[in-house]
Amino acid sequence: MHAIGVSQYGPPDNLQSREIPRPSTPTGRQMRIETKAVSVNPIDIKVRGGTYDDPPDYYERVRGLTKGEEPNFHVMGYDGAGVVREVGPDVRHFKVGDEVYYLGNPVLQGSYAEEQLVDERHMGHKPRSLDFVQAAAMPLTYATAYEGLVDRLGIQPGREGRHYHHQRRRRHGRHRVADRTARPEAARRHHDGVAARDRVLLARRRRCHPCRQPSRRHRAADPRAGPARRHALKYAFITSRTEQYLRPIADLLAPFGRMCSIVQARFDMYGTQCMSKSLTFSWCWLATGAYHGYVNDQEEKHREWYEKLASLLDDGTIKCHLTQRKRLTLENIREAHKQTEAGKGIGKTALGVDEPGDHPVFQ
Ligand SMILES: NC(=O)c1ccc[n+]([C@@H]2O[C@H](COP(=O)([O-])OP(=O)(O)OC[C@H]3O[C@@H](n4cnc5c(N)ncnc54)[C@H](OP(=O)(O)O)[C@@H]3O)[C@@H](O)[C@H]2O)c1
Repeated sequence: MHAIGVSQYGPPDNLQSREIPRPSTPTGRQMRIETKAVSVNPIDIKVRGGTYDDPPDYYERVRGLTKGEEPNFHVMGYDGAGVVREVGPDVRHFKVGDEVYYLGNPVLQGSYAEEQLVDERHMGHKPRSLDFVQAAAMPLTYATAYEGLVDRLGIQPGREGRHYHHQRRRRHGRHRVADRTARPEAARRHHDGVAARDRVLLARRRRCHPCRQPSRRHRAADPRAGPARRHALKYAFITSRTEQYLRPIADLLAPFGRMCSIVQARFDMYGTQCMSKSLTFSWCWLATGAYHGYVNDQEEKHREWYEKLASLLDDGTIKCHLTQRKRLTLENIREAHKQTEAGKGIGKTALGVDEPGDHPVFQ
């Protein structure tokens, strides 16, 4: 089969198309999936560039993996959507022929391949209202927001304002999370009702309107604007430059507040308000369970979230944030990587095998 990946980590032009053996027979709860679409995320860029450091031993782990299949060829890609072609002996929730969407395990070969092995704990049935390209844009961003806000920060959907997602906040009209964007085009997407990009989210005690341009109150709560005096916050979700935001967030948070970061960084808590306020800091890495051998039921929860997300997409509660769709070719993958790396995109880019064009897919 054809697959797109790297034999040497580096710039986007290092991405190549290769013919490699099809995945082996699925074991345990794995399934063999025929890939119909993939989407591009910042993790794809970091891994391909050779700079991915969320786990310190990441490249050692994947080196072992790629040796067994095709020497030094690491297939890229995490988000995907496709059709189940074979199921492992312990699969409980899916059958051959099911249409699914998923976020693969970062220490297995990735989604930019005609076929891939994916554990059933990392997937859900594809939303009926979305095609494969749209579906492939959803899993990573949704699961990160959910795990960060609900599981790590402890915000209870339904009890404290159902604000785990921008769009759900709009729908239910109870808003406690303020956000800001530096780019007018990103703000416009937000106004259009399409998910704005992840950014620093500050859960507030007061109601605020998430579609409005940053108001004076928002700006007061913006860590870049300095400590806010009147509006103490219970939660902070850091999705960019942890090292830059830790100190101002510690100033802003109320005593016993919580913060969660999804972006690895070096920083020092000493000399901040973290201890005086007894703040809780938590990392959130979506792949923790898979990376450490499925030590708890976290991945089982991911499958449940994807099933729930499908129903929220189908009933219109959440809208797909896909903004660019392309044919799944090497050239288009390279281009999507360059665009994501430059930080110029809004929303998500996804690539599908049935998008128009003559060029053979995965080549
Ligand atoms: N730990 C995990 O499991 C996990 C999961 C998913 C993602 N991540 C990581 O989280 C990060 C964000 O991912 P993403 O998919 O949201 O990336 P993205 O789509 O590229 O979005 C980046 C966001 O950061 C905002 N931003 C850029 N510079 C900023 C600054 N100085 N202060 C505040 N906000 C700033 C941008 O705001 P504008 O729109 O205004 O430009 C944009 O919304 C990446 O590093 C990714 O690798 C981690």
